[in-house]
Amino acid sequence: MYTYEELKCFVDRCRRCALSETRKHPVMGRGNLKSPVLFIAEAPGNNEDQDGIPFTGRSGVIFDRLLAGIGFKRDEIYVTNIVKCHPPGNRDPEAKEQEACIPYLKYETILIRPRMIVCLGRIAAQRIIRPDYRITREHGSFLLRKNVWLTAVYHPSAILRDESKMAEAEADFAAIREKLDVCMRENAFTQ
Ligand code: URA
Ligand code: SF4
Repeated sequence: MYTYEELKCFVDRCRRCALSETRKHPVMGRGNLKSPVLFIAEAPGNNEDQDGIPFTGRSGVIFDRLLAGIGFKRDEIYVTNIVKCHPPGNRDPEAKEQEACIPYLKYETILIRPRMIVCLGRIAAQRIIRPDYRITREHGSFLLRKNVWLTAVYHPSAILRDESKMAEAEADFAAIREKLDVCMRENAFTQ
């Protein structure tokens, strides 16, 4: 078991995969360590590589808008990525890079103990939920695994490319909020 600070130190010095050769700054997950919901995206983009903070670019604006729509500020939740270093040219992270980086995500999950995990986009959904997950067809559906709700929504960058996806994402976020509220009420009764 590691603290957040210890994990961040490991990530900041990590050379477990080739992305360490081209990254500017590793991007450790960030937010409320007591968040009931853990958001997992794919990999840092260009902006995030510059400043070392998740979702600070244009995708982050969309992400914050979706969060605000269900009454959350960024610092109330925790958000991280499957790989912590920016893949050059924004390519998909390779399987071996994901494999090298996944222990950090496992430790983040142990630390936060979320009631729900929300995958942002296909790469995270295929890594976390099922290798053949189809984001277009399956986004917004829920699955209970080891007492944690799993779901996936469109990646904010997919919404930037196609604004018609925003309404679907808003509906998925509303369902996320509803389910979280139920979880929190159950918590209140069992504690
Ligand atoms: N896109 C991602 O998948 N993650 C970030 O942190 C920023 C953009
Ligand atoms: Fe290490 Fe992950 Fe960065 Fe690869 S992507 S160097 S495994 S922190």
